[in-house]
Amino acid sequence: MTWYTGNTLYDTVLTVGFIFAALILLSSVYGTAKYGGRFGTKGGGIKMGSKLGWVVMEFPGLLVFPIVYFMGRNAMEPVPLFFLAVWMFHYSNRALINPLLMRVQPGTQSSFDFSVVLAGWFTLTIHGYLNAAYISELGTHYVPAWFSDPRFLTGLAIYAFGFTLNIHSDHILRNLRSKHPKPDEPRYKIPYGGGFRLVSCPQYLGEILSFVGFAVMTWNLGAVFVLAITMANLIPRALYTHKWFHKNFDDYPRERKAVIPFIL
Ligand SMILES: NC(=O)c1ccc[n+]([C@@H]2O[C@H](COP(=O)([O-])OP(=O)(O)OC[C@H]3O[C@@H](n4cnc5c(N)ncnc54)[C@H](OP(=O)(O)O)[C@@H]3O)[C@@H](O)[C@H]2O)c1
Repeated sequence: MTWYTGNTLYDTVLTVGFIFAALILLSSVYGTAKYGGRFGTKGGGIKMGSKLGWVVMEFPGLLVFPIVYFMGRNAMEPVPLFFLAVWMFHYSNRALINPLLMRVQPGTQSSFDFSVVLAGWFTLTIHGYLNAAYISELGTHYVPAWFSDPRFLTGLAIYAFGFTLNIHSDHILRNLRSKHPKPDEPRYKIPYGGGFRLVSCPQYLGEILSFVGFAVMTWNLGAVFVLAITMANLIPRALYTHKWFHKNFDDYPRERKAVIPFIL
């Protein structure tokens, strides 16, 4: 992977991105991102409901990448076009499909803090720029032979596995609530099946593996940057969630790990 591309803007943004990832990791010592029923805040400040919060936060994922992408010289080449398709597929799920399918317990307060949206915008803008600029302009290895390179094939397999695990786990969580939950229904239940047999947060493991796969198949440091941010964000959140489950359910399966099967 190329650390120094010679493009001052790109190399500077990449360095800023990795410093930001380190800061996110440090901040996890003080708690996890303030959204969702378990970790969202109830105090002052601008708050949104979960569905709106997710759509607003993730929307730059669907905007910045294609804008920067189509400014690149290689935008019409087959390998870059393939990565554009993967990107739009991934962010259509994250910014639109998953939030719109979420089942929200009636009467629960809006708890998606605007500070989380701002951090998301910052991350997605850097992430979209770094990957699009590299894939459609700066990267020199995206020739058709890349489709048969072992890095591409291995990365694609990891991505497909991670994405499937992520959406399957989100599906299990969603179905813990009825389509139109009643206010007196318990808000949280213990999830079973699929990746939940091994870990408390297979949805986060799937997301992390998706970005491992994307980094390997594109072989670029912009994708490693978002992998670092995702891990810095989701591994501590999985540990907090795991602890929360143990605290709130006496019959929570003891053998489950938080996010990495048999290890963590
Ligand atoms: N790339 C990244 O850095 C990144 C960061 C964060 C999330 N994500 C991805 O975005 C998706 C959503 O993430 P999230 O953090 O919101 O996930 P989450 O905490 O698992 O919540 C997802 C949905 O399921 C509900 N839910 C969770 N646990 C439940 C339980 N035990 N019983 C009943 N309902 C439950 C939540 O309700 P409440 O809202 O009421 O709690 C929410 O509606 C995941 O696929 C995740 O991997 C990616």
